[in-house]
Amino acid sequence: MRLAELPRARLATLPTPLQRAPRLSERLGVEVLVKRDDLTGLGLGGNKVRILEPLLGEALAEGADVVLTAGGAQSNHAALTALAAARLGLEAQLVRYGPERPVTHEGNAALSALAGAHVVWTGDPDRSSVDLALQRLANDLRDRGRTPYVVPRGGATALGATAYVRASLELAAQLDEIGIVPSRVVVATGSCGTQAGLVAGALALGARHRVLGVTVSRPREECVRRVREIAAGCLALLGVDTAPVPDPEVLDGYIGPGYGKPSQAGGQAATLAARTEGLVLDPVFTAKAMAALVERAGEDGGPVVFWHTGGGATAVAAGMLGDGGDL
Ligand SMILES: Cc1ncc(COP(=O)(O)O)c(C=O)c1O
Repeated sequence: MRLAELPRARLATLPTPLQRAPRLSERLGVEVLVKRDDLTGLGLGGNKVRILEPLLGEALAEGADVVLTAGGAQSNHAALTALAAARLGLEAQLVRYGPERPVTHEGNAALSALAGAHVVWTGDPDRSSVDLALQRLANDLRDRGRTPYVVPRGGATALGATAYVRASLELAAQLDEIGIVPSRVVVATGSCGTQAGLVAGALALGARHRVLGVTVSRPREECVRRVREIAAGCLALLGVDTAPVPDPEVLDGYIGPGYGKPSQAGGQAATLAARTEGLVLDPVFTAKAMAALVERAGEDGGPVVFWHTGGGATAVAAGMLGDGGDL
């Protein structure tokens, strides 16, 4: 694997812990381990810290002086990009869709502002308007003599996903040390780069576990296509010759009232995780992934690795957590 040849800006504190979750395991009747990527060590942690390592490594290698990305006001990805850029001495500009709105000083919006990121609005309510706006902004900056680096939404590119191939190696070493062979890895899927990296990593390592992505935003079919394409691109970048990437496993039915909105099942799963293991899950991503794990705990035996991808800022933003519901 050509991992060592890829660009990398060191941002994360690694390895993140792999922890047993005995009380949760007992409640669910299956052994659960938690991979603590909420503890990646930049900002409030999360999966995007890993994904930004190769991407911002490339930005530095290209001599960039400003990093552009897009995401909603509560985007973990956007806030972490702003914080990572600050740490590397780069400026950050964030593109948001819709007309300009007053900045809410809460959660990730507050962290982005704290990091000094400049926010640009597309004026168009269509979410995908940010993609064109990012390119336009990059061109404007180039015309003004700057060197911009564009991180696509979610950092969901083949290069970004290689971070989760690296993370798969990290997990394999930790599992080896404690002599555990999991049947499943469960992860929240949004823009699909994280699951794609884990799928590519499992293929590259010949691991036998399933990688189950729980979609929290996109329709299942779109995720299946995106994960497959990004994973294939990732393996190609790494020079790993495997059979074609099979259709990845993406679970739907856990989005609840919509992306970014708490679901009842997610609230209950987050409550269970907090009360059994002291784990804080966010309502947008990890609580919904945990809801899927809880509902399907008995499905194909264990052990199960729950990949905690972070989201600490929205976990505590007012109005995001819900009341947790009854257990
Ligand atoms: C906390 C958290 N978990 C999971 C995800 C999903 O990762 P991906 O976008 O790579 O699918 C995200 C994406 O922003 C996230 O912020």
